[in-house]
Amino acid sequence: MSLAAETQTFDMSAAEAFTGQVGATLNSGAVAAMMSIGHRLGLFNVLAEMPPSTSGAIAERAELAERYVREWLAVMVTGGVVKYDPAKKAYHLPAEHAACLTHGAPLGNLAVYAQAVAQLGQMQEMLITCFETGEGLRYDDYPCFHQFMEEDSGQTVVAQLVDAILPLAEGIEERLEAGIEVLDAGCGRGRALIEMARHFPASRFTGYDLCGDAIEYANETARKAALTNIRFKQRDLTGYDEKNRFDFITSFDAVHDQKDPQALIRGLKGALKPGGVYLMQDIGGSARLENNFDFPMASLLYAVSCAHCTPVSLGQGGLGLGTMWGWEMAKSMLEEAGFPSVEKHVLPHDPMNVWFVARN
Ligand SMILES: C[S@@+](CC[C@H](N)C(=O)[O-])C[C@H]1O[C@@H](n2cnc3c(N)ncnc32)[C@H](O)[C@@H]1O
Repeated sequence: MSLAAETQTFDMSAAEAFTGQVGATLNSGAVAAMMSIGHRLGLFNVLAEMPPSTSGAIAERAELAERYVREWLAVMVTGGVVKYDPAKKAYHLPAEHAACLTHGAPLGNLAVYAQAVAQLGQMQEMLITCFETGEGLRYDDYPCFHQFMEEDSGQTVVAQLVDAILPLAEGIEERLEAGIEVLDAGCGRGRALIEMARHFPASRFTGYDLCGDAIEYANETARKAALTNIRFKQRDLTGYDEKNRFDFITSFDAVHDQKDPQALIRGLKGALKPGGVYLMQDIGGSARLENNFDFPMASLLYAVSCAHCTPVSLGQGGLGLGTMWGWEMAKSMLEEAGFPSVEKHVLPHDPMNVWFVARN
């Protein structure tokens, strides 16, 4: 196309509107990154517990430096998160905003996920090198990853485990009550498994994960809770081939970033006893980009995929399927592994995740 033709078709109003969109994106990104700091420092909870207050009073209650807290509050005010009364120089977090930004928030604490945005910045230099070389990264390269996953697990899995998630696998609660062998593959800090071990004292629970620091933390948590029916072991599940050991296997968000997800699923099937059940949670996006235009927080999920799930799989010499590998691929891998029955579920309160119940 000649420059003249291109100029004729150039839509200036669309370009100007897009400039506004980019500006809004930059603002939102800045607010999200700062939300992460507020979450880590407990500032949202402090704000939620206080009446409209000055930055000095808020900093004092949070035991933080006022100058930094005041600047952070300015981000939250201009970002529409915190209300500000200029006459009184008073800041206030409305209850309706606290409902999704505080620890134990009734609508789920979305500030937890702001940490994923902040981490994109922390990883930028390493990721630029990955783009240039095609190489991957190690879990150890990510500061606070397992802490972030533990918080995520507390909200998306542990909070719903007994009421909504285990009932997806019909009959499993009765078997857990009677006493069975359970494995959580890629257990991280093990919150979900610890919750099950507490609820079902007659059953025995094993958690495997690649990362020694996460396993150490999980064992320490189980020890403090005085649980004797659970053990966590550092184990690379690449080439996993235990046979006929478990009645129930779970994996929570732990298949797509493995070196070889299909081989892992095959291995987990082999580790199940006859009549055993595999409950697999993963991200519920589609394998097709065009199906994810309206998927909740799709851009954030693709960003996490690009910055974490894809590089950690590539770093193990793996396929790098990414966070948005798609429920279609997950389902076909379960079928390919030879499970005669594979059910797919989406929980009404949690459209971001997909749950598969596969029976041996
Ligand atoms: C997204 S995290 C999920 C952790 C945990 N299931 C949760 O929900 O908090 C994925 C986990 O898979 C583990 N993982 C990745 N590759 C692994 C491998 N080859 N062997 C064992 N674990 C692995 C990671 O260490 C990480 O803890």
